Amino acid sequence: MGMTIYMYIATVTWLCLILGYTQRHTPARHVPLVVTGIIGDFLLVGYLQFTRDAVQTAASFTLGPLEMIHIGFSTLALVFYIPTAIHGSKIYRGKEEATTREKHKKFAMLALACRTLGFIFMFSMLK
Ligand code: HEM
Repeated sequence: MGMTIYMYIATVTWLCLILGYTQRHTPARHVPLVVTGIIGDFLLVGYLQFTRDAVQTAASFTLGPLEMIHIGFSTLALVFYIPTAIHGSKIYRGKEEATTREKHKKFAMLALACRTLGFIFMFSMLK
């Protein structure tokens, strides 16, 4: 029963997002923390996809339901990172419009919720 190196990395990137969330009113801390978490997640998924054909494995339905839930929520989190980052960078660059902050917050909370559920279900993959 052990965690792989990838599980440790996924734990660190998740902690960056949680810490970044707690620093959401201080851009000088919020932005570097969440950007580290998001880039880390993309690199991790990209690496796992490259080395293990994770998407093909997921799509072939050879995994158990808990593992499928893990992959589903983790993938959804990556999707929500994109609008979160687009709106966040507008706020950061002083280019925000009337609804930018509201949209940033909505996509960010969806991303964080999915990533947290994905994180919890990751532990179903412990061997
Ligand atoms: C590239 C990624 C991101 C950038 C550039 C970014 C940038 C920003 C900026 C500049 C603010 C305004 C802070 C202020 O002036 O008080 C903000 C607020 C916020 N961010 Fe992000 N952010 C990013 C990702 C995230 C993520 C991943 C989350 C969730 C974990 C998140 C959650 C929030 C929340 C909840 C607020 C407060 C919104 C409000 O109540 O008005 N952000 N972000």
